Amino acid sequence: MPSSIQLRSYAKINWTLDVLFKREDGYHELRTIYQTVSLHDLIRISETPGAIEVVCDDPRVPGDETNLAHKAAIQLRDLIGTNLGARIEIEKRIPVAAGLGGGSSNAAVVLLGLSRLWKVQPDDRELVQIAAGLGSDVPFFLMGGTALGVGRGEEVYSIEQAECEHLLLVNPGFAVSTAEAYGKLSRLTSTRPAAMMPFAFFAAKGIRGLSLAVTNDLEEVVLIAHPEIAEVKERLLSLGARLALMSGSGATVFGVFENVETSRRAQSEMRAAGFWSEPARAISRREYSESLFL
Ligand code: C5P
Repeated sequence: MPSSIQLRSYAKINWTLDVLFKREDGYHELRTIYQTVSLHDLIRISETPGAIEVVCDDPRVPGDETNLAHKAAIQLRDLIGTNLGARIEIEKRIPVAAGLGGGSSNAAVVLLGLSRLWKVQPDDRELVQIAAGLGSDVPFFLMGGTALGVGRGEEVYSIEQAECEHLLLVNPGFAVSTAEAYGKLSRLTSTRPAAMMPFAFFAAKGIRGLSLAVTNDLEEVVLIAHPEIAEVKERLLSLGARLALMSGSGATVFGVFENVETSRRAQSEMRAAGFWSEPARAISRREYSESLFL
């Protein structure tokens, strides 16, 4: 009887994102604070005798070897030297190419899920190495919660877990290419002392106390090409959000609300205006690890 498992593949936001400089390898040196949020895809992985197969209910997500989850499975299989196969079914709820890390999360979750299904325990360092090779955001999703990301974002450190119950995610409905967003960045050095940023976060005791000074250095270039994102930010603020910021390379914007009433009202306004909009809350590292497997 072939066995199968089901996992939640959570989305992320970036509470802050500072780009310091362009590195010799072409990537940009970052300081970011990642946060997993409750919005998630569902992934079912079934053991099969041979090939790795990926299927997704969203036609924009390829099932072939260009899919990050597919690459993750192949690389794990090569690492452990098995000839077992797997069928990976992805139920998409996280908008695609939206700054929410959906594809990266799927890849990390496949590494964790397949390890369990195939009953192997790869070395943590090897798993992180595969994850980092798949994409800069992937290692974060092996950990989840609130984490500081440095390097190109692949080096992650768990920090004080932020509590935030009333987030509203809003996506204007177009995809943004991460490579293009970084490519347009002309201001390559931050004027803010990046080393201070995580300490500001600690001092603020999580996002509730954090000032409106959270920033995302990619906003200035992405907003020029997509003024709709600025419009979403302004609308969220006028609907009562304490802060509104683009996540990652966009186009999703998150708003932080004080209570469920204002958040719900804002959600229905944003939907009425034609935007995709979903409520979410911060998922701590502990909740992440306890709720990953269904
Ligand atoms: O690492 P990942 O594949 O997610 O990155 C996609 C693209 O985004 C890279 O090819 C690069 O152009 C850009 N990028 C960057 N600096 C980073 C992360 C990504 O320039 N720290």
